[in-house]
Amino acid sequence: MIKYPLIIDCDPGVDDIIAILVAHSKPEFDIKAICSVSGNVGIDLTTHNARLMAGLLGLDCIVAKGAEKPIIKKAQPVTVVHGLDGFGNCANAFSDDKLSKLSDLSAIEVVREILMESNEPIYIAATGPLTNIALLLSTHPEVKSKIAAISIMGGGINIGNATPCSEFNYFTDPEAAYIVFNSGVKLMMCGLNVTLKATLTDIELNEMRKFHNTISDTIVKIISTYAANDAAIHDPCAILAITNPEMFEYKDQYVQIDIRDGITQGMSYVDEVHNLNKEPNCRVFYDIDREFFRKTIVQSVNI
Ligand code: BDR
Ligand code: CA
Repeated sequence: MIKYPLIIDCDPGVDDIIAILVAHSKPEFDIKAICSVSGNVGIDLTTHNARLMAGLLGLDCIVAKGAEKPIIKKAQPVTVVHGLDGFGNCANAFSDDKLSKLSDLSAIEVVREILMESNEPIYIAATGPLTNIALLLSTHPEVKSKIAAISIMGGGINIGNATPCSEFNYFTDPEAAYIVFNSGVKLMMCGLNVTLKATLTDIELNEMRKFHNTISDTIVKIISTYAANDAAIHDPCAILAITNPEMFEYKDQYVQIDIRDGITQGMSYVDEVHNLNKEPNCRVFYDIDREFFRKTIVQSVNI
């Protein structure tokens, strides 16, 4: 079996923990670290939530705290979608007894160390604003050759959710997204045009309920509340893009990020007609096999 060493950089966030769950359920992944970043909620909560999820799954990996705010902009939590606690106000579904340990090192130090000590390239799945990754690539460019690819949930093609043009993760830290897209590192992008199709129905939630274990009970409670505000489970797409590219349609393209003020700030644009005559810098995912997605999520709680 091909093994994928993986670092997850996230802002849990309901769909972020489903990304962690799916990675945990796939034996192909060797999860090396989970790093938090400010995004859906503030950094203290995203860090706490990452520790709760790692604890629930009994993950034996480093958990580290990342950037407390975007590079230039202010942090702007989205409590409408993810609740005040980042878990749709259902964080009490988790047990604090199982909180995993937090590293003394920062996320950037942890990721730099893991990458530099590794003999094989490592995948990074980024499911929050790209602040940690941009800071890492700018301050330690020597890590670039150690990264197999950065698989991102973010952006979209001609679609937004934070503004009519911009997706939340890129809009939250546009400068970070710009740095990452101009870094030269291999990128994969599942944007809103894919992730808005990554939904679950009551049928899947009922199937998940039937497993009736600690993990399924916790996850179903949290997803059910979240789904009332956002039906799309965006973030696991960035995990599945690594192991299951066959469940998507994709094309290598040249992508840039708008960092100007205004309605297009944080917008990702794809040079579909090769107007700029640039080499592709990103594998852009266009469509998803929704039935496969749904089955995978259901199976991820069958533990
Ligand atoms: C993205 O924004 C967050 O609210 C979700 O966790 C996801 O990463 C979708 O736009
Ligand atoms: Ca997220």
